[in-house]
Amino acid sequence: MAFRARVLGAAAGGGLPQWNCGCENCRLARAGEIPSLTQSSLAVSGDGQSWAVLNASPDIRAQIAASPCLHPTDLRKTPLASVLLTNGDIDHVAGLLSLREQQPFTLFATGEIHEVIAANPIFNALAADRVARVTVEIGHEFEIVSGLHATLFPVPGKVPLYMEGAEVQTDLEGEQTVGVELRTNGRRIFYIPGCAAVTDRLAERIGGADLVFFDGTLWRDDEMQRTGVGTKTGKRMGHISMSGPEGSIAALAALGIGEKVFVHMNNTNPVLRPSSPERAAAEEAGWRVAQDGMEISL
Ligand code: MLT
Ligand code: MN
Ligand code: ZN
Repeated sequence: MAFRARVLGAAAGGGLPQWNCGCENCRLARAGEIPSLTQSSLAVSGDGQSWAVLNASPDIRAQIAASPCLHPTDLRKTPLASVLLTNGDIDHVAGLLSLREQQPFTLFATGEIHEVIAANPIFNALAADRVARVTVEIGHEFEIVSGLHATLFPVPGKVPLYMEGAEVQTDLEGEQTVGVELRTNGRRIFYIPGCAAVTDRLAERIGGADLVFFDGTLWRDDEMQRTGVGTKTGKRMGHISMSGPEGSIAALAALGIGEKVFVHMNNTNPVLRPSSPERAAAEEAGWRVAQDGMEISL
């Protein structure tokens, strides 16, 4: 038994290129000069046979088609055993609608994230007698897929964009935004695709891990303003930046983590250009920038 992970989609919401975006990265991706990326999702397995998909992106149909490990093994038999949601954002839940073809699997999420799904009747397309919606308590270990144990923990974040009220708390720690700790064969792997800040508690938790997939939305907090695509800061979106004294590169530098991989990159992020100084700086600091189809085995 060995741990395997496959990045199904390395981009944040919108993907690369994003349909309505003419920024430098999106233009380069359309021209085939840098790799295009689909939206945020990671497949994991403890035995290479059955798989859990962490977040169901709007691109899941194409992601499965591009991933031999997830192809059907018989007439209506699929290696996909479960789906886990780490928040209720559209880039992480809309793909559930593409999994509606009368296929049994287990849908894991916290109580609050299940409430968001339950409040949207379109998700009733996932027939209740086929798709078991299992509520996972924070801090309680469960078997997410054969041989692979998972524990959810709160990370600073916010409610989904489409649920925002007049006032938004962007460093909420509860059931709306969670990270996933995976254990198998004495290995500890973390998946944290959305995170507003690295608190002491979070740093302590992920310290010494074998592998961490981490929120790589933006290089710098004012990146959307600087590229002219929007007015929101990373902080307002509930995403820590890679660079700077309070960024993720600095925060994870001394935690003794085996492998560090950025996922959930926004299409404005300069690390998506392989020749950029920002990519060189991230790699120099010991990080890899995920690509669609990247696989890691432990
Ligand atoms: C995010 O990660 O901030 C969200 O996916 C944004 C969105 O829903 O578009
Ligand atoms: Mn997102
Ligand atoms: Zn763009």
